Amino acid sequence: MIKTDSCLQCVRCARTYDIGELRYTCDCGGILDVKRDLSRIDGIRLKALWEERWGMKRGIEASGVWRYRELILDAPDDKIVTRQEGNTRLYPAGSAGVWAGLSRLYFKHEGENPTGSFKDRGMTCGASAARLFNAKTVACASTGNTSASMASYAAVSGMKSVIFIPEGKIAYGKLAQALAYGGKTLQIEGNFDDAMTLVQEVCRELGIYLLNSINPFRIEGQKAIAFETLQQLDWQVPDWFVIPGGNLGNSSALGKALLELHELGILSRIPKIAVIQAAGANPLYTMWTQHTPFKAVKKPETIATAIKIGNPVSWEKSLRAVTWSKGTVEQVTEQEIMDAKAKLDAAGIGAEPASCCSLAGAKKLADKGVIASGETVIGILTGNILKDPDAVIGYHKDTLGSHGIKGTFANKPVQIPPTLDAVKKALGVS
Ligand code: F0G
Repeated sequence: MIKTDSCLQCVRCARTYDIGELRYTCDCGGILDVKRDLSRIDGIRLKALWEERWGMKRGIEASGVWRYRELILDAPDDKIVTRQEGNTRLYPAGSAGVWAGLSRLYFKHEGENPTGSFKDRGMTCGASAARLFNAKTVACASTGNTSASMASYAAVSGMKSVIFIPEGKIAYGKLAQALAYGGKTLQIEGNFDDAMTLVQEVCRELGIYLLNSINPFRIEGQKAIAFETLQQLDWQVPDWFVIPGGNLGNSSALGKALLELHELGILSRIPKIAVIQAAGANPLYTMWTQHTPFKAVKKPETIATAIKIGNPVSWEKSLRAVTWSKGTVEQVTEQEIMDAKAKLDAAGIGAEPASCCSLAGAKKLADKGVIASGETVIGILTGNILKDPDAVIGYHKDTLGSHGIKGTFANKPVQIPPTLDAVKKALGVS
C-alpha cells in the first residue's frame, strides 16, 4: 500500500488521517492535503537524482510527473498508470510578451499533455491512487478537461469511468474526447457546481473512486508543473507564476510544490503566484480584494467554460498558496480573455480560452505596475488551442456579440470566387 511517512491532513483544522484511509474531506468539512515528512529527504541529493533522470528515453521516470516521484506518490511501478505525461515545453512569449509589456514572459504549455490539458499530471497520480485502492470505477464532475483526461487514464488501465458534465456548457473537443475514450457520460441539468455536489454523493453511495481535484492525490501530481518548470529554468527562481483559477486545484498544487521545494532548500525563495479568474466566476478575487469571507458565485458566467465555476472546492488551498507566496488574485473580463487569446494564438503558441487568463492577467498586472516589465514571469497555459474551436471561430468571424465580445484582433476568413483576380484583390497585390 501507500508508504506511511505521509499522512492526510485537514487544511482547516489540521487533524490528520492515515494515508491509506479512503476519504476526501475531514470530519469538520475541510479538504485534505497529503502531508509528507520532508525532514527525511536530502534536497541536494533529490535535485541531483531528478537531474540524472532528465531526458530518460523510456520507463516510468521518463514521465514528466514520475521523474519527481519522491514528492508525488509512493506507489510500486506495477500500480502506476502513466501516459508519459508532462515533458511540456517552456516557450518565450514572443510577440505576446511585447503586447503584455513584459520582456521576460514565458509560457509553460500544459496543453501539450497526452489529452491536451494539465489535468493529465494530476490524473496519472489520481488513477494510480485509484489502483492502490483497488478501484474498479472512477468518476468526476467536469467542465471538460478533467473528464477527457480521466476517461483516457481509466481506459489505459482497464477501469470504468463515469463523467458528470454540465449540459450544453462544455467545449466540443472535450466532450468528443470523453465519448471517444469510452467514459459513461451523464449530462446534468445544471452547472458545474451542481455536478460537483452530485458526484460526491454518487461516489459516497456507490463506492466509486472520486477523481476531482478534491482528491488530494490529484493535487500531488499537478505539483509536477512547478517541478518541471523550475528544472527547465535550471532552478533559477522566476519572480512570478501567473495561473488561471477555476476549481482552484492547480494554483493550490503550484503553491504546495513551491513551498516543498523551498523547505527542501532547492529554491532560495518562493516566486509570487497570481491567480487569474474570469470576472463572471470570481469568488476568490472578491474574497481577496474585499477581505470578505468566501462566498460562492451563484450563476457563474464566462466564455472560458473550463473555469465557469462559482463554488470552487479548493479555495482554501489556493488562498493559502497566494498568501504563502505573497502573490495576488486578479480578474479579467470576457473581452480581455479573448483579446489575449487572439494575441497568444497569433504569436504562434495558442491555447484554449481559460488558459489565456494567464496572458490577460499578466498584462493587466503589468499595466497596473504590480508586475515590473523586466521581471521573469511564467504563465501557465492549461489547455490546447484545439479544445474549443467554437470560441476561436466566433472571435475571428466577430459573432460573439451575444457574449459582449468584439473581434478586436479578428483575422476574418475571406470568401472569393476561384479566380486569380479575386486572389490578387484579396491579397492586395496587382
Ligand atoms: N484551465 C483549463 C483549461 C481547465 O480545464 C481548468 C479546469 C482550469 C484552467 C482551472 O483549473 O480548476 O484547477 O483552478 N478545469 C476543470 C475541469 C474544472 O473539469 O476540467 P482549476
